Amino acid sequence: MTVTASAPGKLIILGEHAVVYGKPAIALAIDRRIKCTLSKASETTVNGRPFEDDKHPYLKHMLLSSPHPVRIETESGIPPGSGLGSSAALSASFLKALGKLKGDEMDGERLAKEAFSVEYTVQGGASPLDTSASAHGNGVALNAPEDAGEFLWEISMNGRRWSVRDIKIPEMTLVVGYTGLHAATGPLVEKVRKYRDKNTFAADIVNEIGCVTLEGMDALRKNDLVRLGKLMTHDHKLLSILGVSCNELNKLVDASLRHSYGAKLTGAGGGGSMMALTDDPDKVCEAIALHGGKPFVVRTGVPGAKYE
Ligand code: PMV
Repeated sequence: MTVTASAPGKLIILGEHAVVYGKPAIALAIDRRIKCTLSKASETTVNGRPFEDDKHPYLKHMLLSSPHPVRIETESGIPPGSGLGSSAALSASFLKALGKLKGDEMDGERLAKEAFSVEYTVQGGASPLDTSASAHGNGVALNAPEDAGEFLWEISMNGRRWSVRDIKIPEMTLVVGYTGLHAATGPLVEKVRKYRDKNTFAADIVNEIGCVTLEGMDALRKNDLVRLGKLMTHDHKLLSILGVSCNELNKLVDASLRHSYGAKLTGAGGGGSMMALTDDPDKVCEAIALHGGKPFVVRTGVPGAKYE
């Protein structure tokens, strides 16, 4: 038996980093996916090569729940370390396919919880934002007020608790600018943790990101893209103060702003990608390319983890 499943990457519209501390956040699944094809085998292989523990930390962890070796084929439309949720998409697509292979199919809630547990273990600290967006698709809001959208599930880890809601997203055009710089999420989360633990000023910034995100949920509900854009740009400034932006990201954000409602880094930062909300995607793509980034327009409103 061979099973193929795919899962989407995501963009964080508002709230990254602060969400690790239980603040609200909004993520959208995007039309960039990872596909995993699995079959039972006599030896575990990844894309035709013998499996190596240290090369595949996420797979290593997930394979613990497999009763037999697995032949794994992956296809990815999401650059690793790009801030677009490649590890969550890998975990969600792999676990979805493995469940079926074992005769134990997973619904969205179980998938989101198990994929989050993998991220948390491998990264050493994370929120369930990426994994919930990848499992559910469309848009998800964490720790949002009740009227923000339909309740999906609640996830707890080490004394923290996040509620996850489905959130309706108005039509909008988003352009991503990839810096080409690979930045691992774990060390950036750790950097913010240390800063916040030592410094009440940094803790205030985390709280302010939470307030900006709540306002953004209201702007989304009212389809007020002008206000949402301003909040995104403000969020970028707050993330820069926390130390998770970099020159390359700032350059791309700055260049996009001339033709956008707003722009910000998306994901962990330190490289990876930025995003701009715009009515003029051609101009934004041009500006990003001119400043050394790799631009692409993304489509939202896509399904979560599914069999192919
Ligand atoms: O860069 P990504 O796709 O791993 O997103 C990280 C988002 C953080 O808020 C920084 C961490 C998290 O797990 O929520």
